[in-house]
Amino acid sequence: MTDNQCIKRAAGLLREGRLVAFPTETVYGLGADASNATAVRNIFAAKARPVTNPLIIHIADISQLEAYATDISMQARQLAAHFWPGPLTMILRKQAAVLDIVTGGQATVGIRVPRHPLAQALLREFGSGVAAPSANKFMHISPTDANAVRAELGDEVQLVLDGGDCEVGLESTIIDMSGDQPVILRPGMIHAAAIEAVLGMQLGTHSTQRAPGMHLLHYSPRTMTVLMDSNAIQSLLPAASTRVLRQTELGLDPSDYAHNLYRVLRELDNAQFARIIIEDVPHTSEWAAIRDRLTKACARDK
Ligand code: TXA
Ligand code: MG
Repeated sequence: MTDNQCIKRAAGLLREGRLVAFPTETVYGLGADASNATAVRNIFAAKARPVTNPLIIHIADISQLEAYATDISMQARQLAAHFWPGPLTMILRKQAAVLDIVTGGQATVGIRVPRHPLAQALLREFGSGVAAPSANKFMHISPTDANAVRAELGDEVQLVLDGGDCEVGLESTIIDMSGDQPVILRPGMIHAAAIEAVLGMQLGTHSTQRAPGMHLLHYSPRTMTVLMDSNAIQSLLPAASTRVLRQTELGLDPSDYAHNLYRVLRELDNAQFARIIIEDVPHTSEWAAIRDRLTKACARDK
């Protein structure tokens, strides 16, 4: 099948209420027609995800925004104009018609315009919003290639559109634009400083929104994973050298590192080592989203 035929078939499946996995520039999403409650419910079943954890609605461009969101501030419009299509999700007040199963019964909805060409083509062909979480089982690492989606969800997804490796590799930045002040709920590769530069103001630090689904144990490998500074790793190495079976460089630059992180974690997890040891990354804002995911990958108590 040509790409075009795949897109037509995928849009047709969505219209029939089936699930389709598709690439975005961040991670792969598991999509359903956002206006079909049964289809959306099937996303939660396929992922074994609690229904209290709301989904992001993906749209092709800003012209579809008002179908889902209301009370859209000038600031939200500025962010949309600047960062869409791209890895930014905005939380806005929802239109009455948006289904409770999508928003977890909240008065707000998360919206994003992805820029991956296959996501764009699918959303244009489908013609309206696609509700999609990351295409992994609940609490697992988000998939960044089509094989990882199949490994996670197998038969539970009717079609996986293969768009290769995701460019960004980490989930979108989520910013709450529904309150008095914009507040970041989930850091991503669009940093606070870049958003502040566009808005010409400082972001708030406290959201009135609860941020369901931001559990500490999200994004965890099954293998015991620890974060250590390089000195601690150096002092461990002589004793461990015969037992260190693999060492992997993730990248010196935050965007290379983010691009590789989930793939490498998945590979190391599948290799079933006793332990994954990760060297700490700089404590600067450009590494903030990566540190957030590393901290979550290392959260114990599972
Ligand atoms: O990059 C991404 O954002 C990917 C791709 C597929 O777009 N999607 C993604 O979806 O990461 P998911 O469901 O895995 O994570 C979305 C997060 C959830 O933790 C959810 O709680 C939060 O967004 N969220 C969605 N709607 C919300 C709302 N109305 N209020 C607060 N948080 C919300
Ligand atoms: Mg997710």
